[in-house]
Order: sequence, then C-alpha cells, then structure tokens
Amino acid sequence: MDLASYKPKGKLEHKHLLTLADYSVNEIYEILSCALKLKFMQKKGKKHEYLKGKTLAMIFAKSSTRTRISFEQGIRQLGGYPMFLSSSDIQLGRGETIHDTVMVMNRFNIDGIMIRTFKQDDLNELAQYGNMPIINGLTDDYHPCQALADILTVYEAFGSFQGIKLAYFGDGNNVAHSLMLAGAKVGMEVCICSPDGYGPNPQVLEEAQKFGKVWVTSDVDAAAKDANVIYSDVFFSMGQEKSKEKENALMPYQVNAELMQKTAKDSVFMHCLPAHRGEEVTAEVIDSPRSVIFEQAENRLHAQKAVMYLLMK
Ligand code: CP
Ligand code: NVA
Repeated sequence: MDLASYKPKGKLEHKHLLTLADYSVNEIYEILSCALKLKFMQKKGKKHEYLKGKTLAMIFAKSSTRTRISFEQGIRQLGGYPMFLSSSDIQLGRGETIHDTVMVMNRFNIDGIMIRTFKQDDLNELAQYGNMPIINGLTDDYHPCQALADILTVYEAFGSFQGIKLAYFGDGNNVAHSLMLAGAKVGMEVCICSPDGYGPNPQVLEEAQKFGKVWVTSDVDAAAKDANVIYSDVFFSMGQEKSKEKENALMPYQVNAELMQKTAKDSVFMHCLPAHRGEEVTAEVIDSPRSVIFEQAENRLHAQKAVMYLLMK
C-alpha cells in the first residue's frame, strides 16, 4: 500500500519515538499523513494549536541547528512551549543520572521530552522512568526524525515510494541506519554504499532487510545505477574522532558531478545537513537544481509537528 491510499487513524500504537525499528509501516504513514495535513494548514495560514499549553523539554548533549529550531518553532506553532535544556547547563552534564533527571521532570508536568545525545540506552531509560513521550532527536545509532522528513521529501518529489531506489554514499552512521529502516518499510529500495569497515551496523541491516530490499556495497557504480535519490552525510559524526585513514577511505564515495551522471535521469540529491562542501559532496552538486536539501530541512518542521501531535495530544 502506498501513502495515498492510507486511511489515517489519528493515533499511534507507540508512546515514544526512540527508533523506527519497532514502528510499523502504518505508523510511519500515520505520521506522514499528519505531516502533510499540518504542512497544508500552515501554508494556508490556518491555526492548528492542538497542543495548547503543553511543554516540550528539549535536552541537547550535542550541537544542533535544524533539530533545535524546528522542534522549538514546531511546538510553538502547535500552541505549546519549548524548554531548551543544554546538557552542559543542567546537572546532567555534571553527572546527575538520567533516572534522577527524569524522575524530577515527572513532577513538573512536562508533556514531552525531545533528546539529542550519544547513547541509545539513555533514551530507553528515559522511556522506562518518564511519564511523558520521549522523542529521539539523534543518537549515535539513529536519527528517526531526520528519516521521517527525508521520506516525506522523497514522497513529495516522486509522488510514490514504489519503484524508488535510494542510494546513500559514505559512512554507515545514524542517518544511514534510520534511512534503511524507514525506506525499507515504505517500500523503497535502499542501497548503502560504503568502503569496507565503514558500513552500517549488521544488526540494523538485518532488521531493515526483513521489510524490503536493502543492501550494502562498496561498488559506487552499482549503487548509483538507476538510483532516484542520492544521499550523503558527513564523514565524521558528532562525537567521532577525525582520522586521515577514514577520510581517505571515504573520499572515493564523495557525491560529485561524475557520480550524479551515473544515476537515474530524474535523480535528486539529499543531505541531512550540516554539509562539508568538498568532502562528502561537492559544491557543484549540493548547490545544483537537483538538490532538495532545503525542502528536506523544512520537512523536519512538518514531520516533527506530526510526531509531537500524535504522541503528546
Ligand atoms: N540534520 C540535523 O539534525 O541537523 P542539526 O544537527 O543542525 O540539528
Ligand atoms: N551523522 C551526523 C548527522 C548530523 C545531523 C552526526 O551524527 O553528526
């Protein structure tokens, strides 16, 4: 079933969004349908304050531009309040435990927590002890909100997921993991093209392969062939140490004009941003008419408003 024929139910089975690994295709469609509706309302200037008076606490242990701004603006547009908490400003950064932090937050009528941090286990702990929905704003393992915005962008660009091949070039990181899961579930072919030693986590790959055609290769030509969506991300994710060895291994996977030539005629270029021009992608490609990076960035707002609405209402 494609998104166009999905009948929204107005709710999700899950209480949290920790990873898309345990989300069904229907839940993903529920979020995308809601995102399209909220996007339409916002563009028409129609009020949609469905979370009036609710508070979203946003904990950041890593830097952010898009995630911070889109969640902050998103909760405001839904009539609620953002509470920005940099982990270096709260006691979490001085060693207070996740358990104690969330037990305290339980007493303050916090309606939802968005967290960007290192360990996925910290989110599991928040979900275990918190009495509010927990939303993953990026961990070392996953970036589900990014993947939701990405597939929404693919849907808007092509009008369907069926028959779409997405090829991701570079480090098999958090962004690649969430793309594999989201892409496979909605029926896209997903190819991760990485040098040996820098591929995705085999367990995530195995999980994604249960749902659709997901494969890993180090062969750039095979990955690029007939690909409709070309995706790249930074060589070094936040928290990773830079090394010449990794840079040299990833350089042949740079998305440049020569690589784009090998893809489908209608292909688009995507990147979660921030980008390093001249490393994982050339300026020529990322600044070309084929690039949909700012549509993608905008869709963070709409997809996350849908996630907040469905989890916090
Ligand atoms: N793509 C993304 O999550 O961007 P930020 O790191 O700026 O939030
Ligand atoms: N893989 C990158 C994504 C940034 C949005 C990182 O984790 O730093």
